[in-house]
Parts: sequence; C-alpha cells; structure tokens
Amino acid sequence: LGVASRADDVPDMERRSLMNTILLVGGVGPVMTGILVPYFQFFLPPTAELGGATEARDRKGDAVVAAEWLASHKAGDRDLVEGIHGDPTYLVLDDDKKLGTYALNAICTHLGCIVPWNKAANKYMCPCHGSQYDATGKVVRGPAPLSLALSHVVVDDKDAVKLEPWTETDFRTGLDPWWV
Ligand code: FES
Repeated sequence: LGVASRADDVPDMERRSLMNTILLVGGVGPVMTGILVPYFQFFLPPTAELGGATEARDRKGDAVVAAEWLASHKAGDRDLVEGIHGDPTYLVLDDDKKLGTYALNAICTHLGCIVPWNKAANKYMCPCHGSQYDATGKVVRGPAPLSLALSHVVVDDKDAVKLEPWTETDFRTGLDPWWV
C-alpha cells in the first residue's frame, strides 16, 4: 500500500511542478514583458521614423499639414521644414502651387552651412564659400563636391506631410545617391 501510495505521489509531484511552472511563468511573465518591452524599444528608432517616413515639422515644431502649408505659401516658394534626422529640408511648391514630390536637404555638401534659396538667381547659394546649386539642388559651382540630398515627399491620409528616404538613383546625376 505504502509503495502504491508513493507511486501515486509521482503524478501529483509532476502536477505540482507543472503548476509551479505555470504560476512562475504567469507571475513573472508580465513583469519580464514589462521590463523587456521598454528594453527592446530602447534599441528601436523613434516611432516617427518607423516604416521609413518622418513627419515634416515647421519652425514651431508642429507637424506640417499639406492644406495649411499650401495656404500659407505662394507658387514657386521653397521653405524649410525639419526633415529626416532633424535636418533642415526644403519643401518646394511648383509654379502651379503643387507640393513637389521631392524635398532637398539644405545642408551644404562642402562644410555644412545651411544654403538659402535665392529666388532672383533661381539657385541655392551658399553664403559660406560660394557654392551654388540649381533649382533641383544639383551642384553647379564648387567648392561643394556633391548635390543636395533628396528625400521623397508624401502626404498621408490625414494630410500630414512626410519625408521618406530617397534610395533610388539620383535623377539629377544618374548616380547612386551619395547620402544613403
Ligand atoms: Fe557651403 Fe562651404 S559650406 S560652400
């Protein structure tokens, strides 16, 4: 009988171990999840750049809304927003006041000054050492070695203007993008 009862204990012990495991996992699991989710989130890029799109932000730090941007600018305007990696980036309105499909990083490829748009000259002209870029951002005078970096302009279903990395051929030079 004694042997039989010890033998009967074995399944009970296994059940208790199983229950302990379930309780342990059930109790610790949420705690571990609570620790590990922020731990892994630390290594992920900010939400704004997940999926490859960055919200354009205006000078006040507000998200750029396409309709408002069009209402506050004229045909042919080029104006700065905060773009990918926080870089100053030109949004372009064409002569029909449509938002251009590409934006230009305003950082001079020589030594990093912000390049102003000169409407009269129809160029971006760097005040630091005289580099010039045409209306598409292609370098036309040194010492800047490279054209201004491109990004795609996308308007989402909430009318927010977003910038996406330009990884294709640079249409101005026919070369791979140097900024990727
Ligand atoms: Fe623009 Fe030197 S930083 S020309």
